[in-house]
Amino acid sequence: MRYQAREVGVDGRVRLVLEGALTARDRVGVQDFVLLENFNSEAAFIENLRRRFTENLIYTYMGSVLVSVNPYKDLEIYSPQHMERYRGVSYYEISPHIYALSDNTYRAMKTSRRDQCILISGESGAGKTEASKKILLYYAVSCPAHQRMASLRDCLLQSTPVLEAFGNAKTLRNDNSSRFGKYMDIQFDFRGVPVGAHILNYLLEKSRVVHQNHGERNYHVFYQLLEGGTEEQLLHLHLDRNPQKYLYLVKGNCPRVSSMNDKNGWKALVKALSVIGFTEGEVQELLDVIGSVLHLGNTQFGEEEDGQTYVTTEMELKTLTQLLGVDGAALTEALTHKKLTANGEEMISPLTFEQAGAARDALAQAVYGRTFTWLVEKINQSLALQGDGTSCRDGSSVIGLLDIYGFEVFQHNSFEQFCINYCSEKLQQLFIELTLRSEQEEYETEGVAWEPVQYFDNKVICDLIEEKHKGIISILDEECVRPGEACDLSFLEKLEDTLGGHAHFVTHKLANGKTRRVLGREEFRLLHYAGEVNYTVTGFLDKNNDTLYRSLKEVMCQSTNHIVEHCFRRGELVDQKRPEMAATQFKNSLTKLMETLMSKEPSYVRCIKPNDAKQPGRFDEVLVRHQVKYLGLMENLRVRRAGFAYRRHFEAFLQRYKPLCPETWPVWQGELAEGVSTLVQYLGYKPEEYKMGRSKIFIRLPKTLFTTEDELEAKKPDIALILQTSWRGYRERAKYKRIRNAVIVIQAAWRGMKARRRARRRRDAADLIRRLIKGFIHRHEEYGPDNDYFLDHVRCSFLKTLRRNLPRSVLDKSWPTPPPALTQASEELRQLNMRNMVRKFCLAILPEWRKQMDQKVVASELFRGQKDSYPPSVAALFLGTRLESEHINLKVVQTLGSEKVQYGVSVIKYDRRGFKPRPRQLLLTGSAIILVEKTKIKQRIDYDALRGISVSRLSDGILVLHVLCEDNKQKADLVLLCDHVIEVVTKVAMMANKVDQVNVSQGSIRFSAARSKEGVVDFTRGPELKVAKGKHGHLLVTARQV
Ligand SMILES: Nc1ncnc2c1ncn2[C@@H]1O[C@H](COP(=O)(O)OP(=O)(O)O)[C@@H](O)[C@H]1O
Ligand SMILES: [Mg+2]
Repeated sequence: MRYQAREVGVDGRVRLVLEGALTARDRVGVQDFVLLENFNSEAAFIENLRRRFTENLIYTYMGSVLVSVNPYKDLEIYSPQHMERYRGVSYYEISPHIYALSDNTYRAMKTSRRDQCILISGESGAGKTEASKKILLYYAVSCPAHQRMASLRDCLLQSTPVLEAFGNAKTLRNDNSSRFGKYMDIQFDFRGVPVGAHILNYLLEKSRVVHQNHGERNYHVFYQLLEGGTEEQLLHLHLDRNPQKYLYLVKGNCPRVSSMNDKNGWKALVKALSVIGFTEGEVQELLDVIGSVLHLGNTQFGEEEDGQTYVTTEMELKTLTQLLGVDGAALTEALTHKKLTANGEEMISPLTFEQAGAARDALAQAVYGRTFTWLVEKINQSLALQGDGTSCRDGSSVIGLLDIYGFEVFQHNSFEQFCINYCSEKLQQLFIELTLRSEQEEYETEGVAWEPVQYFDNKVICDLIEEKHKGIISILDEECVRPGEACDLSFLEKLEDTLGGHAHFVTHKLANGKTRRVLGREEFRLLHYAGEVNYTVTGFLDKNNDTLYRSLKEVMCQSTNHIVEHCFRRGELVDQKRPEMAATQFKNSLTKLMETLMSKEPSYVRCIKPNDAKQPGRFDEVLVRHQVKYLGLMENLRVRRAGFAYRRHFEAFLQRYKPLCPETWPVWQGELAEGVSTLVQYLGYKPEEYKMGRSKIFIRLPKTLFTTEDELEAKKPDIALILQTSWRGYRERAKYKRIRNAVIVIQAAWRGMKARRRARRRRDAADLIRRLIKGFIHRHEEYGPDNDYFLDHVRCSFLKTLRRNLPRSVLDKSWPTPPPALTQASEELRQLNMRNMVRKFCLAILPEWRKQMDQKVVASELFRGQKDSYPPSVAALFLGTRLESEHINLKVVQTLGSEKVQYGVSVIKYDRRGFKPRPRQLLLTGSAIILVEKTKIKQRIDYDALRGISVSRLSDGILVLHVLCEDNKQKADLVLLCDHVIEVVTKVAMMANKVDQVNVSQGSIRFSAARSKEGVVDFTRGPELKVAKGKHGHLLVTARQV
């Protein structure tokens, strides 16, 4: 049981819709008539059918019988998905369907190994053939099959279009009416694989070949050939596309049918023929036969004055002889004369005009009819059991499928309708017998008392028709063979004589006034189980006799067309025994069919036609009521319901309803029967409401069941809850267990890993310690395996320590002590490091500092260790200038013009002779030394002209600039006193590029004074700096003691 959907009911209640049969009853009617409350009411029955029909639910069960209403439209309920849904599903579990019936029959065959048959009945146009096709399709598609059987499956499916083309025609009742009966056996091997099939055909309506009622057509194949055949084919057959040109096709005045596409039909036919295995030659010969029938129809006769008949259509006859492959003269002769044998002598007598026409028609019917039989034989060959059949025969079973004409009533009913309706009568008889019998058997096997049911047994009608000597068929046969002038009317009289007074037989003469008015003089009426039918006796004798003049048979035997030759056996001519009459043949074949069917387990499809107009959606109640009545559905239902409406195997019943009783839920451990008893007692069934059989429970009224079903419906939420709870509990428990197990696994793995890791670490550490100790012991030996690790470790750790403790500045002289092996490397590293630090230091020096340094370096080279005032000067920075620009007179600047003053300092100049001190400014430009007195430039010494610079070794501030004497521009050497003598001398020397010309004098300094005279500066040490003229006219400088 599956929940399918939630649906809002008519009453607005939301309820669960189950696919189950019993709950679906409140969807649209009941889906099994057996559950109909008021089973005696035809109105309720029809209302149920109508309600379901309007909802497109065309199938309804009645126990194991499937009632089907023709929808006259495509319902899209036959897809492969539908087949899949119904496969292997129990009959009542999902909504009724022809596939469910097919599947059930198939499974019954497989499990019980008994032959099955499906009987499809209903009136013409009710959907029997469609139903049989659906069943066939179901088996072809959903039964297991092996490769070899693929062709069988194709042949099975393709046999339908062939038989339909040749055996179906448009009638007033059905555009695709089968005009023959068909019984097909499908053989299955022990595994349920279809392995072969066989078709039996019954009484093709041959008269249709030569005559059709108004609005009806001849067999489809004629129209299909004319519409779909190629030009060459038609040319070869001398046929015209226009069906109106053929007398055999114009009788019904209905060349086209809107619902049929003849062109496609032709294509399907050609394809089917090739699939079934017809050779090209066979197809051609088959076409020749069809063509010859049409030409035969157009063959006309004339009557000469002396009464002689002759053929007027020579051309037609020529084509005809060509197509049939017979001798033309012989055929002409045979169509216009008959051969009689009297007293062993052959006599030839001419035919009258009418007789010739009848002979022609008889020939056409015989040719077509026998060709149809040949076709069925051919198809049977291709469907025959594959291989030798012995391997399959063991344990194999068959499913028979009967699609035979339905009960038929027209304005004029003739011999064919008589046969058809007789057949329906027989099938109804079978149906009654089988259903009643099976019902009875079921009660007996289940040990439940049988309660007789009133129903109409149509055996009287069957007897009326088929009884030996007294039945209609016997009388007809007798009339056909009796000597003297027998005719249709004499046959009618005979009927009246013999059957007069029979409750189901009336003629004009026998009838009372009211009936007499609607009965013709040449008619008789049979009161069939399905209704009254008036038969016109005209043609009964001929059709029953079904004679073809011997001369025509002789001609046909000579045919070069293999089909014709096969159909008209020579043996037939030699055989002296009278062949059986048509009706008797039919009766015998029906008797055989009934025997076949009786030996099988039957299933039924009862087809109902909702309206006569072939319209979708129209439900003609009168028509339906009529069918329901004559199909005996009400009686069938009454039989089913007479005793008990509902029965089910204990197991199925218990399975479904066990949740309603605490003792049987969730599992019943004991005997099934006991379980069911416990259950129904708990449910409060009264003893008269049910009976326990041997394997089934029988419930008398649907109401009881419905109450139980409603209880189940109400119980369902509880059950669902229980199921849900236990399922959730189970699920969570399982989930918890899973997680716990997983946790344990992870834990174990993790712990293992951790322990392994720790052990490894310990092992490694011990190893390490061992190696270190050993290395330490051997540390003074050659590098080798005994101490490599230790030595490497010591070196490595020295390098690591070194890296951490590198000196941070050039002044930091610390350095770790290296191990002996690394002494040299350590030293190199130390130097590298130092160089690197110096380089870094240098790169970091700013340009002005560089200049300062350069000057300091020069100063150091010049004065270090030479002059007393040098050490105190080291700490003081050299300045860019000691005179800001605002202290230099503007006039001086103007006079210098473009020459820039780069350094200025205040000095004291001593005259050359008197050594008078005079304050001056000393300026250095790019090219000269300028001596300035306030606003005046007193002296300019170009650097080129500077010969040297002298200073004392003491701490005084005297400097002497020596100039070139040849330069008369120059006055003489300059003696200057300045506070920053180290700075000034360094600057002048550097700017004039005369560093090597600086002289630090150890004693006095001589200098050139004016006019080639020489001056001298003497130096001495004293407490104070003093500059004064001393003895000998020397300048005496007392430098302060440091
Ligand atoms: N199940 C169905 N679904 C759709 N159309 C159907 C169905 N059954 C019958 N018909 C229509 O009814 C017509 C007559 O059905 P058919 O089986 O030939 O009747 P029968 O064999 O009983 O005389 C079909 O040609 C088809 O158009
Ligand atoms: Mg049919």
